[in-house]
Amino acid sequence: MQMRGMYSKEHTLFKSSLNTLYYMLDDVLFEEKEITIGVIGDEVAYGKEPFYETSRQIKGFIQHLKSIGADKITFYKGLNLQELVEFVSILALNPETIKRTGGFEVYFKMGNITNVAVGKISLRKKDQTDQPAEAPEDVMLSARKNYNSGENLMKEIFDDINTNQVLNVEGIRIFVSNIINNLLNNRASLLILTAVKSHDEYSFVHNINVSIFSVLQAEGLGLEQRYLNDIGAAGLLHDVGKISIPGEILRKKGALTEEEFAIIKRHSVYGAKLLLESPDINVLAAKVAFEHHIRYDMGGYPDRAFDKRVGLASMIVTISDFYDALRSKRAYAGEVAPEKTYEEMIKLSGKHFHPLLLDHFFRLVGVYPPGTLVELDSDEIAIVVKESSLDIKRPQVEVIYDKNGNSVGEPYLLNLTEKDPATGKFKKTILRSIISNDKFEVPEKYKPSAP
Ligand SMILES: [Fe+2]
Ligand SMILES: [Fe+2]
Repeated sequence: MQMRGMYSKEHTLFKSSLNTLYYMLDDVLFEEKEITIGVIGDEVAYGKEPFYETSRQIKGFIQHLKSIGADKITFYKGLNLQELVEFVSILALNPETIKRTGGFEVYFKMGNITNVAVGKISLRKKDQTDQPAEAPEDVMLSARKNYNSGENLMKEIFDDINTNQVLNVEGIRIFVSNIINNLLNNRASLLILTAVKSHDEYSFVHNINVSIFSVLQAEGLGLEQRYLNDIGAAGLLHDVGKISIPGEILRKKGALTEEEFAIIKRHSVYGAKLLLESPDINVLAAKVAFEHHIRYDMGGYPDRAFDKRVGLASMIVTISDFYDALRSKRAYAGEVAPEKTYEEMIKLSGKHFHPLLLDHFFRLVGVYPPGTLVELDSDEIAIVVKESSLDIKRPQVEVIYDKNGNSVGEPYLLNLTEKDPATGKFKKTILRSIISNDKFEVPEKYKPSAP
């Protein structure tokens, strides 16, 4: 806790002391279902036994626990490191802050903490005690659940705006912190979900994807957790101004007239204004709404009185926005070749996008993002399961069909950065992505839509 008070979550000193704590707890939880540490009077106790000597040494800590109302802490089997990081960070907060923002429960929800309880506060369900920690196949399930909850949240946000109600700031915060957890657990699972076949730029799905891609970039840049939350919310809300634009213009299939385009362009300013007037919405969201169509070379809209470069968050969201919009347009045209999207965006590097941020983005998602079906030069068909930061065109794949087009039964992993030691050449290379995959059955866990 002291370490957390002094350092960020990412700092090595905090990480190493937290690891020590985690492994000690994990050791006990291997044999016990739960550990409860409580404060009785001025003494700290395990079970019902007080530790007088220890209590004398940690007087300040006991006082702190009492003042924040945490006189009983229970750790349950299944506790994971991420939860512990969140929990210790909450304990290190100023007691006033915790009280003011609605108590532990709010923080527990935000941090997705289910295997720790404080006093009577616990997010655990009664029957959860014997459940093991999240199994790998559940990672996708949990990502899918969060992703889908985003659609309801977006609907709620648009309804709130339409009826002049206060935006659900708490809902946004919980959604974004769940997304961050999913990304930290398994990045590929969320990226697969962003690959839904077709959606328009007005859809909820677009806003959710932009939020995910933006958190992904910010996390990759090593920005701190608080910033991840803010940029995630900003991504989610970047297009709220579109609510002011008539649906028939937004959804028009053919080319837009000049007047229609002028109306569409208003959504940045309108969105910024709307968000500035919303209580408790971070000003970053308004800034991003205003700036997300301003290009790196200062082109784009809205018209500005001063030429000042946009902020980092806006440059990040611009990339996420463009990428998702391009892919979804492609899906309408019946083609979603990710390598085309990549080429097109790289052409705009330094014009539309910050060149370094754009390179960084494709290092995270790859030219062929997870979930993409690809044809290899060995004539095998594979599915991308993990991007490679070494070479954005050489991800890890699972081979699902052999060169004769027969299903291999048990898909096997292939790392495309691998070279043949004899020739020094790459063993296998992607020829192209496969757009229409009716011919090939994608394993259930790599399907974007729920089974
Ligand atoms: Fe926009
Ligand atoms: Fe957008």
